[in-house]
Amino acid sequence: AGKATSTAITNIGSLVTNDPSLFAIGSGGSRDPLGLIPGAAAVVIDGDRIAWVGASSKAPATDNRVDAGGRALLPGFVDSHSHLLFAGERGAEFAARMSGRPYTAGGIRTTVAATRAATDAELAATLTRFLAEALRQGTTTQETKSGYGLTVHDEARALQIAARHTDEVTYLGAHVVAPEFADDPAGYVDLVTGPMLDACAPHARWVDVFCERGAFDGDQARAVLTAGMSRGLIPRVHANQLGPGPGVQLAVELGAASADHCTHLADADVDALASAADTTVATLLPGAEFSTRARYPDARRLLDAGATVALSTDCNPGSSFTTSMPFCVAVAVRDMGMTPDEAVLAATHGGARALRRSDIGRITPGARADLLLLDAPSHVHLAYRPGVPLAAAVWKDGVLRT
Ligand code: NIG
Ligand code: FE
Repeated sequence: AGKATSTAITNIGSLVTNDPSLFAIGSGGSRDPLGLIPGAAAVVIDGDRIAWVGASSKAPATDNRVDAGGRALLPGFVDSHSHLLFAGERGAEFAARMSGRPYTAGGIRTTVAATRAATDAELAATLTRFLAEALRQGTTTQETKSGYGLTVHDEARALQIAARHTDEVTYLGAHVVAPEFADDPAGYVDLVTGPMLDACAPHARWVDVFCERGAFDGDQARAVLTAGMSRGLIPRVHANQLGPGPGVQLAVELGAASADHCTHLADADVDALASAADTTVATLLPGAEFSTRARYPDARRLLDAGATVALSTDCNPGSSFTTSMPFCVAVAVRDMGMTPDEAVLAATHGGARALRRSDIGRITPGARADLLLLDAPSHVHLAYRPGVPLAAAVWKDGVLRT
């Protein structure tokens, strides 16, 4: 174990820092939220951290040098919402939906049966395969949830497996009522807030609940979240995905880190998210509307009101089977009223906010060296060139991974 190696990435054509205070380095001098440095920038990595950001001509001496060749560099994507602990797939259900069948929360039980039948090794292999797939597309931080076990044993083992691969682990025992409790939902909430929480809390940072018709109502969701909070877990909520409901208000009231989906919002929900902009992020998951052929959430309305917006994949085998943050960025720009700058900010800094992390989602001295180099001259190409694999290189914790 010698001294950490340092690397300078020079000749960056367009650098998204998400640090407006770095504006002085840029030629424009405007305090844009993206903290864009439009030409000839350099970033120095020392060990697992960013050590320096500045003009390429002034880059300090380092052990290694990477010439970006005028291409764009941005923070790695922060995917703050996914469900990667599962077995099986539901392609037939997707195909049926595309011929007109509606999406319901009921499909979750199909995946629960497959997940319970899988071995630990199978679940771990699936998780690592999707983490690698996401990393290749530029995702350097991946939150993921339980929720396809729905027994004390199956929820706890999912979280234990997840915790070996990511720091951002979420307990979602309250995904749907377990099939064994179909006639006793109150009994299932007692399990989720009692013995299941005891087994799961040590392995998770977050507690989540699917607050929706067909899953858990407002009172049940409140019971799940407050029980988790009493054990030190921080709340986040699946809210207002399939229809209007109490999820967003509950998230704001409890100071949740994020309200996720936010597809069906009343004016009062938008107002609540705007006034909680420093606490509760509105996390939009366009893959879900894409794959359920539903109307997209209105990001423009949230942004104009002053809410903090994140974009994430929601990767799961039912409603959104994609690990691709570039896909989410492209859809958000095309169909949700976001500018390319806003969508890239939401997919990086927004995700970091939703995970209450200040060490990721920005390229600034002291931040983790989680970086995405694009095969493109600017971040705009993520939306402008949809479906094209633009990730040329990805660093996570200062290590070149792909
Ligand atoms: O976030 N909304 C709840 N859970 C997932 C869907 C899970 C499934 O259909 O398997 C979601 O969309
Ligand atoms: Fe989800």
